[in-house]
Amino acid sequence: MTLAELLPSLGAVEPLTGQCWPRGTHLGPDADLVVDGTGLVGLAARFGTPCHVLSEGHARAAARDFRRALPRAEVLFAGKSAPIRAVYSWMADEGLSLDVCSAGEVEVGRAAGVPGARMVLHGNAKTDDDLKAAVAHGVRRVVVDSASELPALAALCPAGQEVLIRVIPEVDAHTHAAITTGVRGQKFGVPAEDLPAVAAAIARHPNLTLVGLHCHIGSQVTRVAAYETAVRRMVHLLPGPLRDLDLGGGFAAPYHPGEPTFDVQGFATRVQIALQQECAARRLPQPTLLVEPGRSIVANAGITLYRVVSVKPGFAAVDGGMSDNPRPSLYGARYAPRLLGRTTRAHRTPTTVVGRHCESGDIIAENAPLPADLHPGDLLAVPATGAYHTALASNYNMVCRPPVISVHNGHATPRIRRESLSDLMARDLG
Ligand code: LLP
Repeated sequence: MTLAELLPSLGAVEPLTGQCWPRGTHLGPDADLVVDGTGLVGLAARFGTPCHVLSEGHARAAARDFRRALPRAEVLFAGKSAPIRAVYSWMADEGLSLDVCSAGEVEVGRAAGVPGARMVLHGNAKTDDDLKAAVAHGVRRVVVDSASELPALAALCPAGQEVLIRVIPEVDAHTHAAITTGVRGQKFGVPAEDLPAVAAAIARHPNLTLVGLHCHIGSQVTRVAAYETAVRRMVHLLPGPLRDLDLGGGFAAPYHPGEPTFDVQGFATRVQIALQQECAARRLPQPTLLVEPGRSIVANAGITLYRVVSVKPGFAAVDGGMSDNPRPSLYGARYAPRLLGRTTRAHRTPTTVVGRHCESGDIIAENAPLPADLHPGDLLAVPATGAYHTALASNYNMVCRPPVISVHNGHATPRIRRESLSDLMARDLG
């Protein structure tokens, strides 16, 4: 007899591997997971499922990693990745600025107490409402995506409005086509050859001041080398001494146990050396580096809890799906769920975890090794859901969006409440 057979719970509880769970997550009694001091089984009982859980400790620590690696740079949290008031204020607390791209994100930032001086406004189609919200809050920098937006910007912005120009650096980050943004043929930014004309057009508006260049090569980028190439190209494109060089975000996060975390320190070292070398070669003063991480700070802070609703051979269907996580249907993303809250000696069998929505693409995990005795009522925890989940959620099939509960040092705090049917019906005017 093996030890595992003698002590069933030893053989039954899957060890916790990989870096996709929030830092410090550990096994609790009865196959629970303890995240930032709080057991997930109790959280599911208290707040219901589906439920997004966010570790404040993880998010803050990941933010500090960027600050520590780049002490002279300005680190901006990419607000679109987790537009949640509490998250914005944790980031501000950790010394991060905020990247926003709509009146809505400006509003969340304002409500979180982030001053306009610490915000940068992005967008390839900023509406008058976006610009007005930014101006009203005193957003110091606006990233210009094309010369065509300048008249509207100049008409609405106050004297001294700082602008950066978003340039296409022509760096292929080798990520999913829908989140590749550094090459020609996608909608963002100005081609290098048009940069002088856009800079000249800005100079013709007396209330706009060009302070820097910006690029964003894509998202879920794993290779540090892509950023090094980008910084070299960007310095080459500087029209003269400028204060800011914004390299955007896009740093990858692990979604599966075998995947590594992004090498923030390696990135910082290589990019700063490249910046120094290229500026020396061009005899230009070094601009301040700006970086805009979103996913790499919050993705692994998040876990989604689901209940299994039904099973059939090879499949388990849960009480959420593409309405709380459209990333599988948008980018072919796949997740690694784990059974919570009960031990089992059943063998692991490839199980496709699907959602409740009326589409066959509503898949959370494909062939995940889950216990063969999975049954309705079982609790599943899906890691790496802290970025672009609440942000991308919908009400497809008139399903209410889940709450966001943050956990820290053993305390659980609701940050976004569960949506109700009356929230949904309130907009239907009959
Ligand atoms: N800066 C700019 C200008 C951006 O457009 C983005 C993301 C970021 C920073 C932050 O990128 P991050 O570090 O979070 O990768 N919904 C997709 C990701 C879209 C990213 C859009 N822009 C997903 O769920 O994979």
